[in-house]
This record gives sequence, C-alpha cells and structure tokens, in this order.
Amino acid sequence: MKIRKAVIVAAGRGTRFLPITRSQPKEMLPLVNKPLIQYSVEEAVNSGIEQIFMITAMGKRAIEDYFDRSFELEYVLEQKRETKLLQEMRQLSNLVDICYIRQKEQLGLGHAILATKDIIGEEPFAILLPDDIIDSKVPALGQLIEVYEQHKTNVLAVERISRQDMMKYGIIEPKKVSESVYQVLSLVEKPEPTEAPSDLGVVGRYILTPQIFDAIEVIPSGKNQEIQLTDALQLLLKQQTVYAYEFEGVRYDTGTPLGWLKTTVAFALKNPDIGAELREYLRQLL
Ligand code: UTP
Repeated sequence: MKIRKAVIVAAGRGTRFLPITRSQPKEMLPLVNKPLIQYSVEEAVNSGIEQIFMITAMGKRAIEDYFDRSFELEYVLEQKRETKLLQEMRQLSNLVDICYIRQKEQLGLGHAILATKDIIGEEPFAILLPDDIIDSKVPALGQLIEVYEQHKTNVLAVERISRQDMMKYGIIEPKKVSESVYQVLSLVEKPEPTEAPSDLGVVGRYILTPQIFDAIEVIPSGKNQEIQLTDALQLLLKQQTVYAYEFEGVRYDTGTPLGWLKTTVAFALKNPDIGAELREYLRQLL
C-alpha cells in the first residue's frame, strides 16, 4: 500500500526553549527565512505524501495561520504589484492538505500519535518529528518510503551516534539485511554507552503500520509519566518485523537553543544570498 499520509508531531511544550516558548511555538522559530516546521512539511510533500496530520496544542495557533491563506496579505501584495512574492505566498498555502489535531494534554509523543488512530485507519503511514531537520539530496522520508516499498514493513530512520550522545537516543540491536538496511532485533532506550547494542540511534522519521496504535493503547505511562513511542515500538517489535534504515544526509537537532543556532549557521552559510557575507562576519568575529 502506498504511503500517502504523514503525521507531524508538533504539540510538545518546548521547555528547553523557555521563556520564548511561553507564547511562541518552537516550530515557528526561523531557520534562515523559513520556520522550522516548513522543512518537515516540504520534506513530506517532496516524498510524495498527500495528506498531513499536524498534532498541535494550546499556544500553537501560529502554525495553522502560517500555512493558511491570507487574503489580506495577498490583496496588499497585489496592490503593490509584488507579483513574485504574491505567487510564493499562494504556493505556500497550497503546499499540501494539512489537517490539524489538538493534543489537549501533553502526555507524550505516543499519546500525540494515538490521536490520529481513526483518521489514519488501516494503512501504513509516516511520522516526522520537526525538531530533526535532515539535509539530503533525496528527502529522508522518501528514502524510508523506498525501503518500505521493498520490504512492506515498519521502517525507522537511524544514524550513527557518538558514545557521549547515546544516552539521548533509542539504540537498536541490528541484524544487517542489505546495504544500510537492518532488521531491529531489540531497541534500548537511552543506554549507557557500555550497554548499547550498537551505535545506531533512532531519529525523528518513521514509517509504521497501524498496529502501532494497538501497541500505544496497551503500554503504561513510562518516563516522566508520558506515553512513550519507544515503549510502543518495543512492543511492536514482538509482533511485527521492524527495519531500520541508515539514511543518506545530514541531520540537525534543532530541539535545543544551541542545536537550533548551529543549524541556523550551517544553513545560512549555504544560502547563496547571505552565506559569503556571514562567513566573512564569523571570520572577523573569531
Ligand atoms: P520532545 O521530547 O523534544 O519534547 O518531543 P518537547 O516538548 O518538544 O520539547 P522539550 O523537551 O519540552 O524542550 C519530541 C517530539 O514529540 C512531540 C514534540 O512536539 C516533538 O516533536 N510531543 C511531545 C508531542 O507532540 N506531545 C507531547 O506530549 C510530547
């Protein structure tokens, strides 16, 4: 079955960005001139996704407004004969069909995903965590979809994790299937480096079968009293084959102020309009 639907999970509180996240969703922070969330939406669209279900929460209205049509803005741009900009703004609101679902209480990533159970129905689907921005020639989600199409089973995105970062990730016990493709034998959440079964950590892109919803429904709350997706994946592993794919591309974690800043610098340096000047500025600064 074709992967048509994607869930973008954007309901988290963003406590690591406080105080700015008191009134501003972290997903709307800019990465050069586009908000973070737009990168995930574009990745999904460029991977062939037809419908996006965006999980938001209280205080996240700015995301909905951003992808909505603004007749007032279009009118002003028309009057000013800003044709190119007008076209760009229209394109943005026509990117893809986005349906918004509010998570009323932030009870964890698994809980947020469970809210899409009925609308996803009986088909496999994609999940994107917008904190993870992946810069790649072929969209990372598209790469995962290709693996799904070959094996018709769950696929998790993984990358090599350094020893000092292992305690931040779910680490897989892999069995190599083919180049960059592994069967996941087990999944250990945030292990001590000495206890990690490999250096392959799960990052924010998944293709899952709807059986994940049954798993989420039966797992108890885990760490921080939250319903954790990792716990549900561990249960899913016992029932279905789960693969992992080491995607091609560079992943940036924008979930912390430092990570966001590093990503901003990396993207700005590559930007043809401002890159050269920024490089010069940084050189002077150092
Ligand atoms: P994080 O663990 O990064 O949490 O969530 P967070 O709330 O976004 O940020 P901090 O830790 O408070 O700074 C991982 C992903 O799960 C989503 C987040 O939006 C993010 O994409 N999430 C998390 C939800 O949608 N709902 C939740 O209840 C928790």
